[in-house]
Amino acid sequence: MKRTKIAALLSTPSIGSEVLIKGWVRTFRSNRFIAVNDGSTINNIQAVVDFEKEEETQLKRITTGAAIEIVGKIVESQGKGQTIEVIVKSFSVLGDANPEEYPLQPKKHSLEFLREIAHLRFRTSTFGAISRIRHAMIFAVHKFFNDKGFYNIHTPIITGSDAEGAGEMFRVTTLNIDNTPKDEKGKIDFKQDFFGKETNLTVSGQLEAELAALALGQVYTFGPTFRAENSNTTRHLAEFWMIEPEVAFNDLNDNMDLAEEMLKYCVQYALDNCKEDLAFLSNRLKEEEKGKPQDQQSMELIEKLKFVADNDFVRLTYTDAIDILRNSNTNKKGKFQYKIEGWGSDLQSEHERYLVEKEFKKPVILTNYPAKIKSFYMRQDDELPEAKPGMEVGTTVAAMDILFPGIGEIVGGSQREERLDILQQKIKDFNIPEEHVWWYLDTRKFGTVPHAGFGLGFERLMLFVTGMSNIRDVIPFPRTPKNAEF
Ligand code: 4AD
Ligand code: MG
Repeated sequence: MKRTKIAALLSTPSIGSEVLIKGWVRTFRSNRFIAVNDGSTINNIQAVVDFEKEEETQLKRITTGAAIEIVGKIVESQGKGQTIEVIVKSFSVLGDANPEEYPLQPKKHSLEFLREIAHLRFRTSTFGAISRIRHAMIFAVHKFFNDKGFYNIHTPIITGSDAEGAGEMFRVTTLNIDNTPKDEKGKIDFKQDFFGKETNLTVSGQLEAELAALALGQVYTFGPTFRAENSNTTRHLAEFWMIEPEVAFNDLNDNMDLAEEMLKYCVQYALDNCKEDLAFLSNRLKEEEKGKPQDQQSMELIEKLKFVADNDFVRLTYTDAIDILRNSNTNKKGKFQYKIEGWGSDLQSEHERYLVEKEFKKPVILTNYPAKIKSFYMRQDDELPEAKPGMEVGTTVAAMDILFPGIGEIVGGSQREERLDILQQKIKDFNIPEEHVWWYLDTRKFGTVPHAGFGLGFERLMLFVTGMSNIRDVIPFPRTPKNAEF
């Protein structure tokens, strides 16, 4: 007999037929009711065993976490909570789980505890739901771009360049760190290293994606990226997955349109394809927020997703945002940790969240940031922004950040500097050695065109779609400072 998956069993039950199911025991009640889950759906199937007919020693082996195989007949359920159940004809325990040792007993476990047993947390309903949604979102991203005629490009994971100029990279080397070879100046001699030069794990595939876009037209990357920034927050990982589209002939407006369309597409995809998992996570969230005062409770998860899928994002310039923040009561009363003094300061996440959650109550796209606080490759704007009274302004770039409720920055992107002379000057200003980026500059020498792209942090999207509040809970094996277990 062929195994039937529980998802198929529940969605198209054929009452009266005999089935073979395999999965793991979630609970075993009254020596009679086995809840079995096989990962194909959040829902368990209830199998009813006649304990009088079975051997005591075998029944004892049906414990939470044990793997089991059941042959039985599908019947309409007598009890509440399920429409069908399986009357057990025969069963066998395939793999035992000693209840004295198995840490996942049927009770509420904290997310912190589950992080410590990340090798087992796939087996909980919450992480089952998140894992299925994560898969659906990966698929949605590829489908979105494929349907639009984009090509997926694999960019290198080991690189010799620092795309963000941030200097927060993980070194890749085969040199003996206890005894590194030295050059005549006494510095580490990377000529003797594996690649004959200094290399790192990539922080972004953007620069290479640009090379491809300037021949293939529209491309995207979807790969792991690595940042050694020591920020131990609920929004940062040292290893995260990023989606980076890059499109020839696009300007900043096209770029915003693409990013907004893509985010809405992914959210809608989850609404259409992950209904049961989202309903589960929504209830989970409601339970979690029960104790909180009304004004601190967030919008119901599915409502929130629909709201984002159906409404236009707000678009405004950095200069206008600074004006709003500067004149806000929160700023005047000194309630921001970092007071907004004037134009040019970097926005902290408290400011981003103020704009999204208090001022507009919608996703916000901020554009045209000061050149000084953004990356070297962003296109210098031709005009200065209009200064407000009491506010001096400076040069801006065609950058855009998308800010989401509860998350802050979810997307960062820009139109790229396509003019060779300006780009060369920027590289000097940012102290980037030309020999690191000569190949990048070549695209500006030969057939340069305006183009634009952005990066979407995949785990930030996952945070939004699942309503989870810690980024460590939306990736199977989080890498964060002082944590690389499993
Ligand atoms: O704003 P970032 O640094 O932009 C870039 O890397 C550009 N090269 C993208 C491009 O234009 N092609 O990062 C892009 C996004 C952020 O908006 C955020 O969602 C996510 O990547 N991100 C992180 N996610 C998790 N952990 C971290 N440490 C992250 N750093 C950035
Ligand atoms: Mg950014």
